Amino acid sequence: MAKYRADSSPKKVDLGVGVYRDSSGNTPVLDCVRRAEQQVLAAQSTKSYVGAAGREEFNSAVEELVLGASHAGRRDRRVRTVQTPGGCGALRVGAELIRAAAPTAVVHVSDPTWGNHPPLLGNSGLRLERYPYYDAAAHELRFEAMLERLDRAAAGDVVLIHACCHNPTGADLGMGQWREVLALLERRRLTPFLDLAYQGFGEDLAADAAGVRLVTDSVPESLVAVSYSKNLGLYRERVGALIAVSENESRADAVQSHVLQIARGIYSMPPDHGAAIAARIFADTGLKNSWLGELGAMRNRIKLMRAELAAQLRAATGDPSFDFIQEQRGMFSLLGVSSNAVDRLRENCHIYMTADSRMNLAGIMPHNVTYVAESIAAERLIATEKSATGS
Ligand SMILES: Cc1ncc(COP(=O)(O)O)c(C=O)c1O
Repeated sequence: MAKYRADSSPKKVDLGVGVYRDSSGNTPVLDCVRRAEQQVLAAQSTKSYVGAAGREEFNSAVEELVLGASHAGRRDRRVRTVQTPGGCGALRVGAELIRAAAPTAVVHVSDPTWGNHPPLLGNSGLRLERYPYYDAAAHELRFEAMLERLDRAAAGDVVLIHACCHNPTGADLGMGQWREVLALLERRRLTPFLDLAYQGFGEDLAADAAGVRLVTDSVPESLVAVSYSKNLGLYRERVGALIAVSENESRADAVQSHVLQIARGIYSMPPDHGAAIAARIFADTGLKNSWLGELGAMRNRIKLMRAELAAQLRAATGDPSFDFIQEQRGMFSLLGVSSNAVDRLRENCHIYMTADSRMNLAGIMPHNVTYVAESIAAERLIATEKSATGS
């Protein structure tokens, strides 16, 4: 980020950031958020404490948005949801809950995974292990290897799964694969911890939660960390939730009481402002429709840039090996090149991405897509020539 800021080239392109950008390069405040915020401010009569669980109406709206209206756990009153400071807060509180309940449990995370997962989960004292997930050079899931590794996990271990729009790979499980993972979780008695940070960025709210719904509806216990940073653009307001599904109602109450105790020991109470805005949007049909429209526009812009970049790379290189960019979902994909190639793209072309070659497709705009495609193609040709001549 510092190098990008210091680069004075007018050509520079930032594919390294982790936030959505519109076609002018801005991370906008959504219109539905502006309107809801005005209503919140006009109606607010106190700044008194809300409580460790946050807003009740926010929590129940989140449950419905994530789990759907007909979830067996909700019907049986086995679900408890607490508002958290962003998805990160939910991941950390969930990790502390696991640590308290099963201190020797290992948390299995995908290889690769989001860079903040190891500190967020591991700093609770839990041991983390990686399961194979994605082959960056071949641009494909390592699904058989994933199943094979998880089949050797100990009963009671936890499996962290990206619910949709995997960060950093953009490669998600299909529904058939979710069903196979579910069968394995049940057979090996593993606990799923699902990370839902991009609901609505893949297909739509329901389709992006289909894996979460399938798994949480079937296994006795599960956790879901939810974030509204991206899909409501509420990044700095810190809006998220931890959903815990338990075996029965009394266990659910016990889990809730532990979760609240953990929250009290870390941050006491979640911030209210963003959740008040989100709750208003979820409850008001007009605001919600406006949100769905704006969310759809963000999703479509990313899809368009994916399609455009893949097409231009195909045109510039004459081969379809970059078509995976169009097929993957969410903001991120791994270009699948070496860190040396990432350095060359930065130094020669002013194109910035993380060292693992993660690109944020929302950093691509109609005015720079051709430049990005041609630069990648040129750098790829140099790499190919060098490896052919052995230099
Ligand atoms: C995979 C993943 N999980 C969770 C989060 C949580 O984000 P936040 O704490 O900002 O809501 C993010 C944000 O980048 C993410 O990429």
